[in-house]
Amino acid sequence: MLDLCFSILAADFAHLADEVAAATRGGGTIVHVDIMDGHFVPNITFGPPVVKALRPITKLPLDCHLMIEDPDAYIPAFAATGADMISVQQEACRHLHRTLQHIIEHACLPGVVINPATPVDSLIEVLPMVHHVLVMSVNPGFGGQQFLPLALEKIAYLAALRKEMGLNFRIEVDGGVDNDTVASVVKAGADMLVAGSAVFSGGKAEKNARELLRRARAAEPKTEKPAHTAHSHPAPKARKK
Ligand code: DX5
Ligand code: ZN
Repeated sequence: MLDLCFSILAADFAHLADEVAAATRGGGTIVHVDIMDGHFVPNITFGPPVVKALRPITKLPLDCHLMIEDPDAYIPAFAATGADMISVQQEACRHLHRTLQHIIEHACLPGVVINPATPVDSLIEVLPMVHHVLVMSVNPGFGGQQFLPLALEKIAYLAALRKEMGLNFRIEVDGGVDNDTVASVVKAGADMLVAGSAVFSGGKAEKNARELLRRARAAEPKTEKPAHTAHSHPAPKARKK
C-alpha cells in the first residue's frame, strides 16, 4: 500500500483548503506538514495554528514533520491541534526514546527522521517503537531541492532490517520526489512518498498527484507482497478534545 503524502509547503497558502482538496482528488492520502523553526533548519514555516486550521478541512491524516529544536516542548501542542503522526529529527533529540514515548503518550503515531548524513544504524534500538522512519533525500529546510541518490541505499537497508527484525514500521521518503525519481524510491522499498513541488507546481495538484501516483504504482514490485499492511498498525487513539 503506497501513500502519497503531499507536502503543503509548496501549496498556494492563500488557497490552502482548495489545494488540499485538489491533491486529495488526485489520490493523495496523507497531508504532510513541514514545521520549521529557523534554528534546526535555516527556514521558518508555520506552527500549531496552521495544523488547527487544516484539521476541519480534511479527513486525511495530518503528518507533522518537526524540523525544530526541542521537539518535546511542542509535541503536546501539535497533538492537541490535530496531528495524527508526529515525526522528529534524530539529530534534534538528545533522548530519542523518551521523545518517541512522549508522542505515543499524546496518542499520535511516532516517526523518526534521519538527515542525509545520519546513518540508519543510529535507529536500530528504536525501530520496534516507531510507526514510520522518514529518510530525508535532501537536507531539510527547503522545498524544490534535488533528490540525493544516497537515500536509496538507506531505504533498501531499512526494508531489509524490517524483514530481519520482524517489524512492520513504514518507510517514508522526503525531498526531491518527482516524476523522475519516484520509481527508484518505490523500488528501493519506500511506501510513504512525500512530495511538495511535484504535486503543487503550476496550480495543478489533482493532475500532478495522479500522474505521480501512476508512476509510483507502476514501479511497485508485483511478486512479493510487503509484510506490512495499512491495517497492521494500531490506529491512533481518539484524540482528547
Ligand atoms: C524539506 C521538507 C519537505 C519538502 C519537500 O525540508 O521536509 O517535505 O516540502 O519538498 P519537495 O517535494 O519540493 O522536495
Ligand atoms: Zn517534510
